[in-house]
Amino acid sequence: MSIQKILVTGANGQLGWELSQLASTYPNYELVMVDRSVLDLSEPEKINTVLDTIAPDAIINPAAYTAVDKAETEKELAYTINAKSVEVMAAYAAAKQIPFISYSTDYVFTGDATSPYTTDTAIAPLNFYGSTKADGESLAFAANPNTIIIRTSWVFSSHGNNFVKTMMRFMKERDSLNIVADQKGRPTYAKDLAIATMKMIEAIDAGKTIKGVYHFANQGETTWFDFAKKIQSVAGLTCEVNPIKTIDFPTPAKRPAYSVLDTSRIEKELGIQIPNWETALQACYDQIMKAS
Ligand SMILES: NC(=O)c1ccc[n+]([C@@H]2O[C@H](COP(=O)([O-])OP(=O)(O)OC[C@H]3O[C@@H](n4cnc5c(N)ncnc54)[C@H](OP(=O)(O)O)[C@@H]3O)[C@@H](O)[C@H]2O)c1
Repeated sequence: MSIQKILVTGANGQLGWELSQLASTYPNYELVMVDRSVLDLSEPEKINTVLDTIAPDAIINPAAYTAVDKAETEKELAYTINAKSVEVMAAYAAAKQIPFISYSTDYVFTGDATSPYTTDTAIAPLNFYGSTKADGESLAFAANPNTIIIRTSWVFSSHGNNFVKTMMRFMKERDSLNIVADQKGRPTYAKDLAIATMKMIEAIDAGKTIKGVYHFANQGETTWFDFAKKIQSVAGLTCEVNPIKTIDFPTPAKRPAYSVLDTSRIEKELGIQIPNWETALQACYDQIMKAS
């Protein structure tokens, strides 16, 4: 069956919005963007009715409960959106034999590794958000072995809330900032992830078998402190930026010290070269300036 109509959830999120911006690049596909007013993932029992009405040929699910610290207290809601509803959509896709792509996180890993996490590395989430995403993965695969899960990390975009935009705002408002310098990871430009997702759709549409877990993040690795310094230099802002330790910045949810994803599987299978995070940051900054 060829793919024409693709349902995309979370239309107003970073990744959902970046996917919507690709509609004109992929004229062969109709992207049906839905937000929570159309498809509310906190109500899994209503999902199938909405899906039946839209009757998609593929489902892409960037919507998620992403408030990592709040998830420690809003446990039921986070679990419903990130696990239960993902299971329902995966089961629907299995019944209709259509592709289902959902997203997960570097927070499914322990955070104490010293080399990049591959798609085979055992998972052991260290916070509740991570455990809801891990449950979403396993429930989806149990309901539908053809599920595609793309784990990503440190997502930023010109649209929505993220570290890049927060840093730019704080650096304009404040004289000094303290940023954690002992957590390492790979920033991800949501636009690059959206492009990789559409390449995946094209590959499936061309008959390639794609299923299981993939990792996607921009090339290179950094710390939040070095990321902030780079944002400062790209944006030409003056503000004192001081490195601090995680222990000096307590948060309700634990954060991994090391969350570098190995992206070789997606690069090989899709034949893509992922841009370096610094190049991606510059592209995002240019987009922020263009939009303002
Ligand atoms: N952001 C990161 O740093 C990061 C890191 C690792 C993995 N990920 C994963 O990557 C994916 C995309 O993340 P993102 O950064 O694009 O997220 P985001 O910007 O926070 O967007 C999440 C979207 O989910 C929607 N949503 C929340 N609750 C909903 C509900 N009950 N029903 C329907 N929609 C609901 C939000 O709607 P509203 O706009 O109405 O709030 C929003 O549009 C997610 O699976 C996330 O877990 C993100």
